[in-house]
Amino acid sequence: MPTQPLRTQVGILGAGPAGLLLAQLLHRAGIDSIVVDQRSREDIEETVKAGIVESPAAEVLATTVSDRVYRDGAKHDGIAFHFDGQAHRFDFQDLVGRSVYLYPQHEVLKDLIAARIDAGVAPLFEHTATSVEDADSDRPRIVGTTADGSGFEIEADVVVGADGSGSIARIPVVGSQQGGFFREYPFAWYGVLVEAPPSSEELIYSRSEEGFVLISSRNREVQRMYFQCDPATDPASVSDDEIWAKLQAGVTTDELKRGPIFRKDVLRFRSFVAHRLRHGRVFLMGDAAHTVPPTGAKGMNLAISDVLWLNRALREFFGSGSETLLESYETDALDRIWKAQHFSYWMTTMLHIAPDASDFDRRRGLGELRLVTGSRAAQEYLAEAYTGWDYGVDGWRD
Ligand code: DHB
Repeated sequence: MPTQPLRTQVGILGAGPAGLLLAQLLHRAGIDSIVVDQRSREDIEETVKAGIVESPAAEVLATTVSDRVYRDGAKHDGIAFHFDGQAHRFDFQDLVGRSVYLYPQHEVLKDLIAARIDAGVAPLFEHTATSVEDADSDRPRIVGTTADGSGFEIEADVVVGADGSGSIARIPVVGSQQGGFFREYPFAWYGVLVEAPPSSEELIYSRSEEGFVLISSRNREVQRMYFQCDPATDPASVSDDEIWAKLQAGVTTDELKRGPIFRKDVLRFRSFVAHRLRHGRVFLMGDAAHTVPPTGAKGMNLAISDVLWLNRALREFFGSGSETLLESYETDALDRIWKAQHFSYWMTTMLHIAPDASDFDRRRGLGELRLVTGSRAAQEYLAEAYTGWDYGVDGWRD
């Protein structure tokens, strides 16, 4: 057992974008926190995740963490939809005067970890939290074990669960790790990382008779591409030739630039929102609070909204003792959460073909794509959601 619990104002489970950004914003307001994560720093900085940062998210990162998103990220002013043998571009600058930034999530994590280390409060890596205790008291505790098997305990005024889709902080909040509104999809993405130059300067989302394809990028040398697959697919069971055939079937015009495939993975599709985001002094945010299917890359961008709401509430709480904003956190955060759930669900269902789709479903789907690409109002709706609605939360700039 630990001899002496560590003491802090905010104990944060999870050194992902949500937990680390919250720690950074609180630090700027003079509020201490301790971030714990079971993974090593190397694992966190190398895990492959989506690469699209919305316009308001880029502004938050550049103002509070690092402007590398603007310096090293690639500004994208549009995306293309390919379907029915044709390409249609959404010109975000023309439609809504905004862009997105291709800046992979592990780069955001490197910036956030460097900022924590600069502040003299490195996250506690390889610390596995096993439970959150005393959620109903004003001294909740994070209890767990370190890599060498010894125990640790963190006593805080507030505990925040930013510990991802397998969150243990959900247990005191909703009663189990699963308690939430949930939807599963009958397909997944087969993803590859390829050593090759970009095949397209902008992302291509495609829907063909074969299903969905996404042509994305990581940088000038490494490309990220996905095609729709059965969720039970074993990544090792698909040959490089089959992969290139599936990807090529999605793009209507260009010949994809090929190169060695050095990573293959299968991404599950699910939508989830926890039944509650708060119990007593324990709060959920990011993937611990909600999961979106990957289409549209809303995961990290949505997590930043939760962080901004909780940052504002915690600044008020530690500044004046008032719990008013802590009490409204759940309602405040859920507004964007359900909008982003809808957008991710809509992009997903519009661009994929379910395995049991009827001829009616396939033709209706094409009608929807023609409607969205053929109407300026519909294009603006998509562009506004894709590039990111304003967060509408204050208290993070200082
Ligand atoms: C990526 C993932 C997405 O889900 C998306 O919509 C766009 C890009 C990516 O991994 O690059």
